[in-house]
Amino acid sequence: MVAGMNSLETAIRVENLVKDFGPRRALDGVSFTMHEGEIFSLLGPNGAGKSTTISIIAGLLRPGSGQVRVFGRPAGTPAVKAAVGVVPQEVALYPDLSAQENLLFWGRMYGLSGRRLAERAAQVLELIGLTDRRADRIASFSGGMKRRVNLGVALLHEPRLLILDEPTVGIDPQSRRHILDSILGLNARGMSVLYTTHYMEEAQELSHRLCILDHGRLIASGTHAELVRIVGELDRVELTLQGETAGVPDSWRALPGVRAADAENGRISLLADDGDVLLPRLFEEAAREGLHIASVQIREPNLEAVFMKLTGRGLRD
Ligand SMILES: Nc1ncnc2c1ncn2[C@@H]1O[C@H](COP(=O)(O)OP(=O)(O)OP(=O)(O)O)[C@@H](O)[C@H]1O
Ligand SMILES: [Mg+2]
Repeated sequence: MVAGMNSLETAIRVENLVKDFGPRRALDGVSFTMHEGEIFSLLGPNGAGKSTTISIIAGLLRPGSGQVRVFGRPAGTPAVKAAVGVVPQEVALYPDLSAQENLLFWGRMYGLSGRRLAERAAQVLELIGLTDRRADRIASFSGGMKRRVNLGVALLHEPRLLILDEPTVGIDPQSRRHILDSILGLNARGMSVLYTTHYMEEAQELSHRLCILDHGRLIASGTHAELVRIVGELDRVELTLQGETAGVPDSWRALPGVRAADAENGRISLLADDGDVLLPRLFEEAAREGLHIASVQIREPNLEAVFMKLTGRGLRD
């Protein structure tokens, strides 16, 4: 076999990455392998280390220790930079230039010019669905449209690997859907995608495989099915209370069979040994505390439940 011609080529291999910022350890021994052709997600809450990991892979930041190989080469080398497109977490565009002018500017930065550059800018505008707005200033765009241009910039040089850092945070559902569909389409045509998010629904929908990061450590990795198996036989009980919900009542965490609990937007999630056994006790406890349960459901385990089981906290704390 010819070296480097494996049918399942490795896109990214990260080994034992450690990164400190002053006294703070941002990455604490992160290792994973992403195959070519995959959509691979890093899922984790604020401060988990997602952007730090991406910056190291993109060659923008040096690790304290550990190894990164992208298509078999060290991160940061010219060949790797040419093969990778990065969509940064913060929008990096010139507000006073139009969408098209931004694409032309950034295309030149990637070494494109002439007819090739014009063609690529036109193709990218089509792909991000902004051809009709191409002459408008970025400053006049919605947050979602800016994010779509941000994605477009990373695609100009037709990278083999696309890396996205939480590209859908805080945008309208239509732009979000557009970005997710673009990623799925690009991947279907062979592009490898490293995706980061703290939205478990996105990680679940997009990823062939994913890993969960927390406090700079990789706490689980695998396919969605493999990860939810970690929750095993536990039930996920979701309920809402009438009126204000300050959080999970302390007494509930102490109920027998409750393994983890979390509250978000008035919705309480509990992981329990047996939902059917727990429910009557929950109703009793609620009544004793003068709380009224408005709705309750026992659901399949999801990535949120995996995170709760492994950390005792919710993904969105
Ligand atoms: N340039 C920096 N200087 C100091 N500390 C940093 C720097 N960049 C990141 N950190 C710290 O490293 C840790 C990981 O940060 P990182 O940005 O990688 O997390 P993240 O998973 O991307 O979070 P978010 O979802 O908020 O973007 C955090 O504790 C953060 O405060
Ligand atoms: Mg980040």
